Formats: sequence, structure tokens, C-alpha cells
Amino acid sequence: MKDWLQTLPKAELHLHIEGTLEPELMFELAARNDVALPYDSIEEVRAAYNFANLQSFLDLYYQGMNVLHTEQDFFDLAMAYFERAHQDGVVHVELSFDPQPHLSRGVAMRTLFAGLGQAREEASRRFGMSTALIMSFLRDRSADDAMDVLEQAAPWYDQIDAIGLDSAELGNPPEKFTAVFEQARMLGIARLAHAGEEGPAAYISGALDALDVCRIDHGVRCLEDEALTARLANEQIPLTVCPLSNVYLKVFERLEDHTLPALLDQGLCVTLNSDDPAYFGGGMLNNFMACHDAFGWDEDAFRVLARNAIEAAFMDENRRETLL
Ligand code: HPA
Ligand code: ZN
Repeated sequence: MKDWLQTLPKAELHLHIEGTLEPELMFELAARNDVALPYDSIEEVRAAYNFANLQSFLDLYYQGMNVLHTEQDFFDLAMAYFERAHQDGVVHVELSFDPQPHLSRGVAMRTLFAGLGQAREEASRRFGMSTALIMSFLRDRSADDAMDVLEQAAPWYDQIDAIGLDSAELGNPPEKFTAVFEQARMLGIARLAHAGEEGPAAYISGALDALDVCRIDHGVRCLEDEALTARLANEQIPLTVCPLSNVYLKVFERLEDHTLPALLDQGLCVTLNSDDPAYFGGGMLNNFMACHDAFGWDEDAFRVLARNAIEAAFMDENRRETLL
């Protein structure tokens, strides 16, 4: 099954590029940029990846990305991931990045776009991989801060396929960002948001109604609201579900307890993604295999999931046709 899943052409729609930073590269970049790390060894870093919840992960995630400084660093980070994804049989990656923590450390916006842009071009040349770029805002910072970031990104709007909303969900409802997302809508930029990971089903409804998003990142708590579940099914709004992430962040105790089978039973447009593969037990192939082991899904089930992602992707229509 693993060999077959590897050859299945997969699109990844929910991937934080900063969450692909493997400990080996973390050490390399720390040495390159003379950044002190609170760890003595790669084993110590891996041992620290034992999370109680979303916030305990976010603390290490923001700390880890402090080693990223130059255009070359962002290029190396993204290229290393594209290479691993290619080995997993991923043919399309939608990478999200979080400008705010980088800007706060004095990294320029152009450094981010240049490094990631170069890597996207190289992935296309070397692997024939298509990519899309999602610029995400931290929901635990202010709406004014997000608006400022959106304005600062103006020279690169042509590179942005969508904006997103991530970081600490509870207490930061989507409605906080209504004005920012309305501004993006007027600029013709598509909108996504994390919702219903740790937050309640009401945050999913809020993301649809207040932010006019075209996909929901995670969304696994939608089942708590029957009317919302029916709406997601009727409108076939894609959910970018991240199975191993949900287990690592204790959204579900074990993958066998995950509501993925119930989401599919409800007729929802489910896709499988890795979220932060360096922190959550691996990339797309590991996520697909883990679902095979936990739910006993057959090839037909995975074909549907892979097709959902290709249909929901920000992708050239000719490219989509060749993949469907
Ligand atoms: N949830 C919210 N914010 C994030 C995540 C996540 O899984 N990964 C990186 N930022
Ligand atoms: Zn995420």
C-alpha cells in the first residue's frame, strides 16, 4: 500500500513552510547565522516535540523559526521540503508562511518573497511541481497588525494565491479580522482560515460568513453543529484536514479516534495534509499511511481524497486537467 500511495499524485493544501524546519537544518542555520539554540543536540530538539496542545507547539514553532534570516535560508528551507514532498509523490504544494514573526525580528518582507519565490521556481524546474503561496496572519495579534502586513505585501500581490489565518485559535474568533479579509477580497485575493481545530464550530461558520473563505483549514469540529455540517456538505467547501497534526496536538487522543470517517460519511469535501511535518511525525505519505493503518481505507478511498485536493487547489486549469 505504501508504494501505491507514494505513486498516487497528491496535492498538499495545508502546509506551513516554517513547520517543515527539521532539527538538522535548524542546527545548520543556527550555525550559519550565529543564533544560539536552547538545545545541545538534534535528539534534544526531537525530544522537546511532545505537545500538550496547540499553544505548546506554537511556542517551539516560533522559537525554531528564529534561525531563518536570509533569502538563502528561506530558499533552503522550502527547497528541502519540496524535495521531500517530491519523494512522497506530492505534485502540488500550497505553502503558507507567517510574515509577522519574521518582520518582528527584522527580516524584510522582500527576503521572504524572494527566497520562497526562488524555491518555487526551482521546484517547478527540477520536479515539475506546481506550487501556490498563502500569506497567513497570526490571529493572536491585532487586526491592525494584519492590515499593516497586507499593505506591506502590496509589491508581491501577484505572487499571493490566498491569505490565511493561523496561530492560537481560542479567544481569537474570525470576526476579529473582518476588515482585513474584506480588503483582501476587494484586492481580488482568495481567503482561507484555520477554524474548528481547537476552536468551536462557531468559528467555522464565522470564517465562512465574516471572512468569506473558500476553504477551511482543519474544520474537524464542524460535526458539533448539524446545520453547519450540512452547509459544508451542500456547498462542498473543502476541509484541509491534518490527521497526524491533530493527534500530536491532542485534538484526538489517537488517530483511531479521529472523526475523519464521520466527516466522509457526511459527504464533506475532505483533503489530507501534513500541516507542520517536521513537528508532527512526517509528511504527506506518512499521513496517508497512518490513515490506512487507522481506518483500513482502500485505494478507492484515497483516490477520492487525492482528487478532492486537486479540485480544491489554486492551480492552472490545464495543470488540473492533467492531474484529474
Ligand atoms: N494551527 C494553528 N496555527 C498554526 C499551525 C496549526 O496547526 N501550524 C502553524 N501555525
Ligand atoms: Zn495549520
